[in-house]
Amino acid sequence: MTARTAILISGRGSNMSSLIAAAMEPDYPARIELVLSNRPDAAGLERARAAGIETAVVDHKAFDSREDFDAAMQAVLDEHKIELVCLAGFMRILTDGFIAHWSDRMINIHPSLLPSFKGLNTHKRVLDAGVRIAGCTVHVVRPEMDSGPIIGQAAVPVLPDDTEETLGARVLEAEHVLYPRALALYASGQGRVVSERIVFSGNTASTDSAVFSLPGD
Ligand code: GAR
Repeated sequence: MTARTAILISGRGSNMSSLIAAAMEPDYPARIELVLSNRPDAAGLERARAAGIETAVVDHKAFDSREDFDAAMQAVLDEHKIELVCLAGFMRILTDGFIAHWSDRMINIHPSLLPSFKGLNTHKRVLDAGVRIAGCTVHVVRPEMDSGPIIGQAAVPVLPDDTEETLGARVLEAEHVLYPRALALYASGQGRVVSERIVFSGNTASTDSAVFSLPGD
């Protein structure tokens, strides 16, 4: 079973590119059928086209309400018979109705170790707080922002002379490893939502659990 998957983006799409590359492997359990952006000028659109992936734009500025915008996105996703949605730097707040429709079928990446540092300006707040370990999280999307069952996390040490930029770049590198692994675990059904947590089955032996809390490594 290969899940027909759409990636939703708003910007440069580096996570999108890592998912597209992973999904080109023959055994990967998700196939990227569509990249959808709410911004016509998102750099990721060109990257997706260059990789031979179909793209669509639903410009949020053309809609009077979030409900109408989400309905237009839903129509495009339905047209492509999408089964699974990956948010990858998608910077619009989604309506509860859209999230409910995609319940357990929409996942997101966030550049912190959730539930810490939800929201924007994550790396600045991490540095201000003086925490020693930063990281990133892939989770199933729930109505409350940046929350939901956690599929996987990667830890990234904070270095003494880190700036927002240097820390952000190292976390992004980890994101590019984490997201394809987390999507594979989820799309294959090895990770399932049970009582609002992810339960794993199958071969879950972990060999680098110090860095990734992802079973199956
Ligand atoms: C990534 O760091 C992603 O984790 C973050 O936006 C960036 C998108 O970069 N997402 C969020 O902050 C969502 N709350 P990309 O377009 O190069 O993948």
